[in-house]
Amino acid sequence: MDTLIEMRGVKKNFGDVVALRDGNFGLQSGEIHSIVGENGAGKSTLMKILYGLYPPDGGNITISGGGHTETLSSLSPKKAISHGIGMVHQEFMLASEMTVLENVILGFEPRKGIGIDRASAIAKIEEYGSAYNLGVRHGAKIRDISVGEAQRVEIIKILYRGANTIILDEPTAVLTPMESAKLFKILLSMKDGGKSIIFISHKLDEVMAISDRITVMRGGAHVSTLDRGKTSIPELARLMVGRDIFLGASPPQARPGKTVLEIDNIWVPGEKELSKLRGVSLGVKSGEILGIAGVNGNGQSELAEAIAGLRPIQRGSVRLLGRAVESDTPLARRRAGMSHIPEDRNITGLNRQTDMKDNFICSSFREAHISSHGLIDRGKAREAARARMETFDVRPCDPDAPAQSLSGGNAQKAVVSREMGYDAPFLLAAQPTRGVDIGSIERIRGELNKARERGTAILLISSDLEEVLALSDRIAVMYEGRITGILDICEANEENVGLLMTGHSAEDARDV
Ligand SMILES: Nc1ncnc2c1ncn2[C@@H]1O[C@H](COP(=O)(O)OP(=O)(O)OP(=O)(O)O)[C@@H](O)[C@H]1O
Ligand SMILES: [Mg+2]
Repeated sequence: MDTLIEMRGVKKNFGDVVALRDGNFGLQSGEIHSIVGENGAGKSTLMKILYGLYPPDGGNITISGGGHTETLSSLSPKKAISHGIGMVHQEFMLASEMTVLENVILGFEPRKGIGIDRASAIAKIEEYGSAYNLGVRHGAKIRDISVGEAQRVEIIKILYRGANTIILDEPTAVLTPMESAKLFKILLSMKDGGKSIIFISHKLDEVMAISDRITVMRGGAHVSTLDRGKTSIPELARLMVGRDIFLGASPPQARPGKTVLEIDNIWVPGEKELSKLRGVSLGVKSGEILGIAGVNGNGQSELAEAIAGLRPIQRGSVRLLGRAVESDTPLARRRAGMSHIPEDRNITGLNRQTDMKDNFICSSFREAHISSHGLIDRGKAREAARARMETFDVRPCDPDAPAQSLSGGNAQKAVVSREMGYDAPFLLAAQPTRGVDIGSIERIRGELNKARERGTAILLISSDLEEVLALSDRIAVMYEGRITGILDICEANEENVGLLMTGHSAEDARDV
């Protein structure tokens, strides 16, 4: 096979932070090549350099194609695009008020006289649709389409710009298992069509399923590049983290106490018809983890927002420690004993415009340990934030770092650390391990179990069924805005929870 891209000895610093000290990566034509590594290992930075978003501080990049080879010390996005390199970012970059078609052609509008040749653009979008399983509705607005469809739009957008090398940075972190399976079909058909693909993921089972080769990075450097057939998940995990990882350990038997959170018959308007809550009731006791399983979009996000006070409820009650809180503001609910790890670290979880310490003190700034005479003590705030960052190994452990400089997984770890640090009687944990590396998954799961041991009532919402099964004492399954069944962990398994997730009755599920 021909080598398309060769990155050698690539270096990149951000101030004092060394993001890459020895980035090496080679891509062959027509392969799917995965990159794995801990949060902050430098995966996104290396790929942003390849896409021309950052100039490297050292090293070189050799790009071959069309019969000639060029070695460069840096690229620009324009240059990358002219070499057929396209990137789908970790955080989507589509304009939500514009249509699919408008987003695809933005900046590359096909002209016909003085107007835009919409017909030829639509024909091209449809052509990609049938060639690579990339079905999208070109007239729909981005804000009305699912995450899976938005991602297909991102892929079409880069194909439209002529990409032959496609970089996907954690594309499956936000997808349901069904959508991920769909994406893999797309990747395989693009590979069959002669495209080369770079795939970043923390889900090692996906990496093992889809890749031809796998590159492991650690601490800003290349560790190893392996053939898929000659490695295994435990080996990859060990190379990434530098130690063995155990996710399977089962926690001791729960000793549930009194009910901490009680929801009674709540009705909540939804983002989509299927996701409006239609009379949800449940209770979470002190010292237990109640997991919510379900295919994304069946009301889980609405449920979390309704509990946190971010979405008004039409009917029903939410009681926290015996007190009705359904009309309270989010801050009042926090004061009443609630903490909340929101599913989206960038919108609800962090204020990206400020630094880490402000993000850590944002809802505890009135408390005695960081303020005196009504003023925030910056030094104390910094130390409080540093201590929380250390607990979850947020890298870099710098309270003055701007929030937007953190890598995706480190931002997630920071949000988890802040919320768990309140040690509130009730923790609402939505997708707590989204985008974090396997070592950090182990740590976060361990901390959730410790909080449960201390008597915290935890409501866990996760689209990862394996996670729900690994952590929960009881599992409630949501389907079309209702709870279709609640199973005790000792009777739950992938089959019966899966049946409830697809709308089967609790009776059907119990027979499995
Ligand atoms: N724009 C930036 N400003 C300052 N520091 C940055 C910036 N971008 C990245 N970094 C730092 O560089 C390091 C590597 O980050 P990068 O985003 O490449 O990691 P990653 O391997 O993609 O991690 P993740 O799995 O969490 O996405 C991190 O320590 C990060 O904090
Ligand atoms: Mg990243």
